[in-house]
Amino acid sequence: MTKTHERTKDYLTQLLKAYWFAPPVALWRAVELRTAAEETYERPLLDLGCGDGLIGRILFGTPGTVDVGFDPWLGQLERARQSGVYRHVDLADGHHLPYPAGTFATAFSNSVLEHIPDVAPVVRETGRVLKPGGHFIFTVPSDCFRTLLDGYVRRAGAGDVAGAEAYAASVDRWLAHHHYHTPEQWSAILADAGMALTKARYYIPEAVERLWDRMNARFGVNRQRSLWGILASPRLRPLGYQALLSRLLVGHLGRRWHAYYEMDVPPDEKGGGLLIVAKKEGKGGNSRRAQ
Ligand SMILES: C[S@@+](CC[C@H](N)C(=O)[O-])C[C@H]1O[C@@H](n2cnc3c(N)ncnc32)[C@H](O)[C@@H]1O
Repeated sequence: MTKTHERTKDYLTQLLKAYWFAPPVALWRAVELRTAAEETYERPLLDLGCGDGLIGRILFGTPGTVDVGFDPWLGQLERARQSGVYRHVDLADGHHLPYPAGTFATAFSNSVLEHIPDVAPVVRETGRVLKPGGHFIFTVPSDCFRTLLDGYVRRAGAGDVAGAEAYAASVDRWLAHHHYHTPEQWSAILADAGMALTKARYYIPEAVERLWDRMNARFGVNRQRSLWGILASPRLRPLGYQALLSRLLVGHLGRRWHAYYEMDVPPDEKGGGLLIVAKKEGKGGNSRRAQ
């Protein structure tokens, strides 16, 4: 699949439909998928921390195209199983993978590693289950994530450095983020697991992250009370208006946010998201691209 083809794929609309109740989540994930979709995924393919399988389904498309997905969260895993994209799902934790050494050509992980406090053992386990020459492709919030938050930029710009730091710390707690490694730090963690970092690509430019941060407050995604939070509440679903509300929102934000969705991080700048590709020492695999 070419880069041009990915440009024509509208992940934003697909994700707004899925996350209509939390639109900024759709924006972040749409840019993330557009970035991840430019990589090649050789099979057998493992989705580490697959969650409910929505991202796997949208990224890889055809049912059964991901060999294995696993997650320690049973409720999410059941939904992943029902999504049909995985040939097999396992209830498992990244610290102890139930697979023999050298099983997979690719391990993919989207927005998972930042939630694991001591991530090095998980990276080592991932390296163990990869074939020689296999790839570990993952996305995480970057080392610039905190300082690109709109709430951080505004406070720091007004000279309130302590306030900016407190704001970023509140976001860390809300999102349960434990670390924001630099590409160099990831490179060292990967090297310790027998893998060489071959690509580190920033996505989510500053304008997108600042919009995302503001919209989290506006739509009540960050647990603050908002009118939208009330309107989109599952408790009000029986009233029957939410289908129309979601259609209107998808159409409106699909147009309004499209330019943000297409923004790349300018050369020599950093973004709030980081895509890493690492290769395990050796040779291997059958090619599989995202659809
Ligand atoms: C933000 S969700 C991302 C889910 C999915 N990858 C996606 O992009 O939608 C983070 C996921 O990481 C999983 N997770 C947390 N700790 C983990 C661990 N130690 N090993 C594997 N998965 C873990 C959680 O259960 C959750 O499903």
